[in-house]
Amino acid sequence: MGAHIIDGKAFAATVREKVAGHVSRMVEEHGIKPGLAVVLVGEDPASQVYVRNKGKQTAESGMASFEHKLPADTDEATLLAIVEKLNADPAVHGILVQLPLPAHLNSDLIINTIAPEKDVDGFHVVNVGRLGAGLKAMIPCTPLGSLMMLKDFHGDLSGMNAVIVGRSNIVGKPMAQLLLGANATPTIAHSRTKDLPDVVRQADIVVAAVGRPEMVLGDWIKPGATVIDVGINRVPAPEKGEGKHKIVGDVHFESAEKVAGAITPVPGGVGPMTIACLLANTVTAAARSAGLPEPEGLTA
Ligand code: GUN
Repeated sequence: MGAHIIDGKAFAATVREKVAGHVSRMVEEHGIKPGLAVVLVGEDPASQVYVRNKGKQTAESGMASFEHKLPADTDEATLLAIVEKLNADPAVHGILVQLPLPAHLNSDLIINTIAPEKDVDGFHVVNVGRLGAGLKAMIPCTPLGSLMMLKDFHGDLSGMNAVIVGRSNIVGKPMAQLLLGANATPTIAHSRTKDLPDVVRQADIVVAAVGRPEMVLGDWIKPGATVIDVGINRVPAPEKGEGKHKIVGDVHFESAEKVAGAITPVPGGVGPMTIACLLANTVTAAARSAGLPEPEGLTA
């Protein structure tokens, strides 16, 4: 029998419903409409698709959506001035600067100029530090969505061995912090880890976030383990016709699905949860800024 397929698309819809409920209560009871500002520099096609989806889902959840689309040759001072303006705008509770930025812009400087309490990506060093110290933080959306799915499926993660393949600031490192906070035992492995398949075989939970198409194979997976595939890789698909492409994860789904106990598909797994968690973080940021209680069901 194959693995249970964890339906991220359906789960994301339930998160968005919770978000919409919180938003309508905040508007009706407190006169606060949570607002998310997205800043896009340049014309990267993938980024344009992300930003369009974010804007659409933000508006659908009842929040205010602000978009700043800037030309690719925007200079750093102009971009910093926009971030400062959004920091000072009381209608904006969350700010996201779409990455990657054009090479002439210093991403670290720009991200660290966002007010930490409005940093709904959780990329600001203050939020990275707060998460590490076990303090209230803004949590990066992809690991947050991954942890929500793990807790929904398993309930308690106490004592489970988790192996994260990938050490990025955006996924691998914060994922380890979140799993640690959930009383699991995380290991961060990466492309240079010795005997990587053997390390992954120890895991009750595998989180693949290495950015290499179908790298994690079925025979790396302990039978019955839960596999969270964070990868989104566009690869040629000659079987679909000449010049066609498809999206695959960092896990070789066909072989892993035969061994795992549960697995997230790509597409339709972690991806939809990322935007849902961005909306959730915006509501959380709005509630905190107004001194309201933490909205329920929006954090892991
Ligand atoms: N580019 C691709 N995904 C993301 C994301 O989650 N946040 C930001 N800021 N940029 C991205």
